Amino acid sequence: MAASSCSSFLIKILLCVSLLLYLNEKACVVHGADEITLPVSSLFPFPDCKASTTNGPLSLSLSLSLSLSLSVASCMNSHGVSLKAQTRLSEANSTLKLVHKHGPCSPLFNGEPVNHTQLLLEDIVRAKWIRSKSSGTNTANGLKDSAVSIKAKYGPGGGSYLVTVGLGTPKKDLTLLFDTGSALTWTQCEPCVVSCYSQDEAIFDPSQSSSYANISCSSPSCSQLGSGTCQPPRCSDSTCVYTAQYGDQESFTVGFFATETLTLSPTDAISGFEFRCGQNNRGRFKRFAGLLGLARDRISILEQSATKYGRSFSYCLPPSTSSTGYLTFGKGSVVSTSVSFTPLSTVSQDAIFYGIDITGISVGGKPLSIPLTVFSNAGTIIDSGTTITQLPPTAYSALRSAFRQAMSKYKMSTPASPLDTCYDLSGSTVVTIPVITFSFRGPINVNLDPSGVLFPVNPSKVCLAFAASGDDTDLSIYGNTQQRSFEVVYDVAGGRIGFGAKGCS
Ligand SMILES: *[C@@H]1O[C@H](CO)[C@@H](O)[C@H](O)[C@H]1NC(C)=O
Ligand SMILES: *[C@@H]1O[C@H](CO)[C@@H](O)[C@H](O)[C@H]1NC(C)=O
Ligand SMILES: *[C@@H]1O[C@H](CO)[C@@H](O)[C@H](O)[C@H]1NC(C)=O
Repeated sequence: MAASSCSSFLIKILLCVSLLLYLNEKACVVHGADEITLPVSSLFPFPDCKASTTNGPLSLSLSLSLSLSLSVASCMNSHGVSLKAQTRLSEANSTLKLVHKHGPCSPLFNGEPVNHTQLLLEDIVRAKWIRSKSSGTNTANGLKDSAVSIKAKYGPGGGSYLVTVGLGTPKKDLTLLFDTGSALTWTQCEPCVVSCYSQDEAIFDPSQSSSYANISCSSPSCSQLGSGTCQPPRCSDSTCVYTAQYGDQESFTVGFFATETLTLSPTDAISGFEFRCGQNNRGRFKRFAGLLGLARDRISILEQSATKYGRSFSYCLPPSTSSTGYLTFGKGSVVSTSVSFTPLSTVSQDAIFYGIDITGISVGGKPLSIPLTVFSNAGTIIDSGTTITQLPPTAYSALRSAFRQAMSKYKMSTPASPLDTCYDLSGSTVVTIPVITFSFRGPINVNLDPSGVLFPVNPSKVCLAFAASGDDTDLSIYGNTQQRSFEVVYDVAGGRIGFGAKGCS
């Protein structure tokens, strides 16, 4: 057991204990080879925002996060964690704080509890949207026919994480959904010619910014607009007009295609950033100001900032909705030695998504017997906006039965669709779960964090955070729950994606 590394030095024990006392919710989790024991309470978020990984110069929180990393490294016996934190803070380029949409760390938090039913429903919508895009039925060509027949599926059904960026001169802060499955970046704009939904921050007003400019219809950027939206641009008084409709088929945004200065950190701005200034925005959007698109596409921030950041970014999705993570742009984020990389692949049907290749899954150290072709036939994308990982049914049922077997001493509870393996932990103070390991082409093995294995609805319903896709040939989606607490590195220029454990520290 790794616990022995804690006991070898008194100082390490002290560090572990003080870490425990400080975090309260985080146990000094023992990573045996096969299973992890953790307090049931650690599965649930705190009412207040706890940890903070912030951008900009840090003093107090820098030393705090370094000492936490050190103590985690000591009791986990994992190498390079503290080094990595140091490296990131000194060399990272533009780092934004990243928060869960529904947690107390969000600037938009209003104390409302998360509606898990709604969240899981939105997730199903998003997965459908992704599959409809990737099934090839939603190409730009296919949409030329008639505006009425457009069942456009561009955008986030769910989308879970927010970042705050600055737009315009002087800059105005805007909190946007961060989405690796979308290419376009948009925000609501005054004068909201037709309609704006209500958002918390002041709606962006181009007339108050000295750096705003409309993109004209004759500009090459305008004619290329269709590639990102699946819908051809239109013109209004020679200004390029975009339309984007979303997966739920009731959400859309229409407005002017424009350029602005986008400020990512106090010292870093992208001038002439092409974005959508929404004049008619409706549907399920609520409270946030728009969307930041990070997919692989000419119009995404990845390509627009390519000379600056070298097509590279990384993020850490926090282990709970009551802690914070980060989104970092630039090569500064990929120097960590503790990150394991897998080649980036392209799903044939839609190149904007980030493809990765799953080669196997282990539960409690035992590889499941799933033919490799089950994964390779379907293909997999990694997505920041899908909450629950969806696997081919053959793979999911193998995972489910191994997990159920390992959890047989716990009482099962009713499903929370689409999650069908849920436990009543209301009578337990601790829970022991099997380690779940994903193997990717490389080969690399990624041991999921406990926060990436269980989806806690409430103490009497804690569910295995995986679902089956409809069919073994459907695209698999590696969702954001399973990415929690990892530093996920998108080295797009280098054609690879990396995972570094304990990445939010
Ligand atoms: C990013 O950081 C690296 C290393 O410090 C530096 O060489 C590079 O110029 C930075 N890039 C930007 C855009 O700040
Ligand atoms: C949660 O969302 C579901 C689905 O939209 C809805 O039917 C239910 O009434 C909601 N529950 C609460 C407590 O708002
Ligand atoms: C942008 O174009 C729209 C539509 O033509 C126009 O109403 C608006 O004044 C223009 N804004 C600027 C700053 O040129």
